[in-house]
Amino acid sequence: MHVPFCTDRCTYCAFATMADRPALHRDLVDALLLEYGRRPALEAGMETVYFGGGTPGLLAPGLLERLLNGLQARSRLETGAEITLEVNPTNVSKDALSAWSELGITRLSIGIQTFDDAVLAGFGRHHDGDLGRAALDLIAEHWKGLWSADLLVGFKDQTSQDLTFDLAQLLKRSAPHISVYGLTIEPGTQLHEQARRGSVVRLEDTYMDSYDILWSSYLHGFGYERYEVSNFALPEARSRHNQAYWRNEDYLGIGPGASSSRHPLRWSNLRDTKQYLEQISGNRDTRHHVERLQPSDRLLESLGVGLRTRDGVDIDELERRFGDSWRIALAAGIQQLKQQRLLEEVDNNLRIPATALTRADSIAAVFARTMELPPSQ
Ligand SMILES: C[S@@+](CC[C@H](N)C(=O)[O-])C[C@H]1O[C@@H](n2cnc3c(N)ncnc32)[C@H](O)[C@@H]1O
Ligand code: SF4
Repeated sequence: MHVPFCTDRCTYCAFATMADRPALHRDLVDALLLEYGRRPALEAGMETVYFGGGTPGLLAPGLLERLLNGLQARSRLETGAEITLEVNPTNVSKDALSAWSELGITRLSIGIQTFDDAVLAGFGRHHDGDLGRAALDLIAEHWKGLWSADLLVGFKDQTSQDLTFDLAQLLKRSAPHISVYGLTIEPGTQLHEQARRGSVVRLEDTYMDSYDILWSSYLHGFGYERYEVSNFALPEARSRHNQAYWRNEDYLGIGPGASSSRHPLRWSNLRDTKQYLEQISGNRDTRHHVERLQPSDRLLESLGVGLRTRDGVDIDELERRFGDSWRIALAAGIQQLKQQRLLEEVDNNLRIPATALTRADSIAAVFARTMELPPSQ
């Protein structure tokens, strides 16, 4: 469920967001539920729900409750379902935490990025390091569910000490889950414009490689498992929702800019919130792109997302989806990558050895180049 509102747009962010308009919150919630009502009914119960954005933590608890009730009016929530809410440090208070908990939210994902005041100000964030720490202290003390914090790595002038300091703040509060994102310069962002004008906005890739070793070994030393390129979890704290994406399972995305996958179809919604709301109120389609995936695309997609995870791609699942044809289609790539020690078969999974996980995207690309016969489905 995509909630596009943000207090302001951060200079690096290209997600489908708009400056917050509290007067539109109720309209958006109603539109999300209307769109949901128009999508094919889910056959099974919902195992995970993710309120992402944007900043869904800006919605009043009453509106989140309306959303959750509306969802459940049409589909069953599985017992023990994971329900995640994305929040900013400015949304967190003792009252908000207890309201979210009463609503049945089981997991919070908080955007910290860094604790460096100057960097946060340069990014256009509406919190400083102290507010980030205060929000985490409240969560660590009062939140009984799981939670995750996002960090950005690779901003201009970031030293290894800065990175270690940011990580240490999260470890001090025993964050069960940490996402560490390498800063990317996305077209259409202010950061992109600054770079285009010649400013240095990001560390060079050579630094990023050594920083990667630093943050992954640091977190490993404190018991975190790198279960996906950018994601680290203590035991039992993996994100179930994200793992479903990485297994290339079906998902339903609702709201401006949201994408959905229901094999063999993929679709994504209009990104502009105003247009999205107009389409809903005019009873018109909110999708701007619908695509039917060929089996070869689906196979490459399964590798593209699955090989970024430590578990890798489940061979039984490949067989269930593609019969024997996947092995023939991938034979050349598998042979080449195994010889280069960039691929292994362990516990009936095809996976990348831990030391090469950061190269997952270029390793998966080998299959696109070497695929022989397209698989059938
Ligand atoms: C959809 S945002 C929501 C988080 C929340 N609104 C916040 O900012 O606190 C999810 C995460 O994506 C990451 N992100 C956004 N733009 C990025 C970029 N250009 N490069 C790397 N990570 C990015 C940030 O770490 C952010 O916390
Ligand atoms: S990083 Fe978060 S707060 Fe900043 S613009 Fe993106 S979604 Fe909004």
